[in-house]
Amino acid sequence: MSYLDATEDLYKKAALTPDVGLCCTTTPVWKFPELEIPKIMLEMNYGCGSTVNPRDLVNNPKILYVGVGGGMELLQFSYFSRQKGGVTGIDIVDEMLDASKKNFKEAEELNPWFKSDFVDLKKGDALNLPVEDESIDVAAQNCLFNIFKLDDLKKALKEMYRVLKPHGRLVLSDPICDQDMPENLRNDDRLRALCLSGSIPLKDYIKMLTDVGFGTIEVRAKRPYRILDTNHYDTDENIMIESVEVCAIKDPIQEDGACVFTGKSAIYFGNEDFFDDKKGHVMMQNQPLAICDKTAGALADLNRDDIYISESTYHYDGGGCC
Ligand SMILES: C[S@@+](CC[C@H](N)C(=O)[O-])C[C@H]1O[C@@H](n2cnc3c(N)ncnc32)[C@H](O)[C@@H]1O
Repeated sequence: MSYLDATEDLYKKAALTPDVGLCCTTTPVWKFPELEIPKIMLEMNYGCGSTVNPRDLVNNPKILYVGVGGGMELLQFSYFSRQKGGVTGIDIVDEMLDASKKNFKEAEELNPWFKSDFVDLKKGDALNLPVEDESIDVAAQNCLFNIFKLDDLKKALKEMYRVLKPHGRLVLSDPICDQDMPENLRNDDRLRALCLSGSIPLKDYIKMLTDVGFGTIEVRAKRPYRILDTNHYDTDENIMIESVEVCAIKDPIQEDGACVFTGKSAIYFGNEDFFDDKKGHVMMQNQPLAICDKTAGALADLNRDDIYISESTYHYDGGGCC
């Protein structure tokens, strides 16, 4: 049995019998006026963060969600799109599609604004999406891609890139791990399917995103997720896994490289009213400016003693250069 079969098998079971602790997260569940999330969707919240952000959902976007789980985030996306077929949900596991369909019926009863046909459910594989080229504004995945081995992860990211319109957004939430994951854990198909041992370092994930062509990357959140400890797992040292929320935008990559925002800011505190680096960044005296890592590097190279550059917070929430 391949690791992909083992994954399908695990989520078939998780569809038939909800597993509350499967991918538990500290991220609060979005609450909006008149949005009532059915209990079963909360029990089947198999994500590790949130991919829903009102900032991405302007201008009536066409939304794609890959790996539907119990359907909670598709309901949250529907809250903003509110139209027939506004959200397409794709999953490879029949039982998960059936379970989410049932959950959407329940959501319809609890939410007068919601109709099941706001969500168009389709059987399909993240590695070969049944979706037309450049037809999607916002494509989301939560806690699925980390399961994929590197070649498959590359395929999955290329598929998301292919279906997005120019300037479209891939919003994702996934575990990452900046330590060396022991090979025995990495090769354990069940742990991988449980989103516990497939994760890669954040910088490698970002490089894979820029390698497929995304020109702007926003790291919006990073939180502790799990510890694989020496008592419970076959490892000599405790392994920390974190979960991240990232938005990758299908902007062209600039000549000097992609803009990667990891939550850095710069403050000019010199004697002039402002500082202009002549590359599009004007910093008003003692005002913070959100900057991408590339600009942070360029400003640091100036070796000035009147510009402060912060460390990455990994909680970028908009604004700034590029
Ligand atoms: C960890 S769950 C996450 C579910 C959902 N995103 C959430 O946040 O609750 C992974 C989901 O991906 C689906 N899945 C697994 N392999 C897949 C594949 N190759 N293509 C599409 N969906 C897949 C599973 O059936 C399951 O619904």
